[in-house]
Amino acid sequence: MDWGLKNRLSRIIKPDGRTVMLAIDHGYFLGPVQRLEDPSKTIKPLLPYTDALMPTRGVLRSCVDAGNDIPIVLRASGGNTIIGEDLSNEEVTVSMRDAVRLNVSAVAFSIYIGSKYEHQTIVNFSRLVDEGMEYGIPALAVTAVGKELEKRDARYLSLCCRIAAELGASFVKTYYCEDFEKVVKSCPVPLVIAGGPKLKTDFDALRIAHDAIERGASGVDMGRNIWQSENPVAMIKTIRAIVHDDISFDKAKQMLTSLKGPKRS
Ligand code: R5P
Repeated sequence: MDWGLKNRLSRIIKPDGRTVMLAIDHGYFLGPVQRLEDPSKTIKPLLPYTDALMPTRGVLRSCVDAGNDIPIVLRASGGNTIIGEDLSNEEVTVSMRDAVRLNVSAVAFSIYIGSKYEHQTIVNFSRLVDEGMEYGIPALAVTAVGKELEKRDARYLSLCCRIAAELGASFVKTYYCEDFEKVVKSCPVPLVIAGGPKLKTDFDALRIAHDAIERGASGVDMGRNIWQSENPVAMIKTIRAIVHDDISFDKAKQMLTSLKGPKRS
């Protein structure tokens, strides 16, 4: 692995092999998602507990202080919207030149395996890997499912993650699922998990973070289950302890409960 690429990746995935990424890129197809209406306000209290931030370039330029030293995993795909015809219709939306100008640590691109635009997303992701290699910028493949959340099982996600790694992803973002260890086992690069839509309780989100780490994930790249929580700082602190300190699920529940402050207005 080239030094520059290795160096950038090491800023995201810490020496213990783990990372807590905070995803705030949802607006690129969802618009002003609840509790991410004002990204600066949402991320400010969370940044001290975040290893890497995943925004779009628009939010990065307008809402993230350039004096901040946090590694950026830049959302570099788009072209779809929640009210459009097909969520899988994504292409590269950021030039590598602009990614370099933004001093990002990685670029992120969604691949939609088994969808109408599978071929397009696979080929575009491969091109992004090539361009990233020229500058030493690693690529994160996101195994996206669009609106078909029921697709998220070990058989399908193993296929997606393995294909992503074969195409040259330096790391892969996927979903937690039953038999997750099978997904990890067949993927030769680090895996991080998304949280998906807000779960019923914060404990449910802690559970998937804990179980994913226990079964071999290298970390999380969560959004809604952190910043849509009534207690986002308590959530990210607890998730951090799960990821970096391997605390048990029971300990995580206790930690979250004791960290919870008064509900926000
Ligand atoms: C999709 O909306 C985005 O790419 C997010 O980065 C990703 O889904 C992770 O965020 P969440 O944990 O909210 O699913």
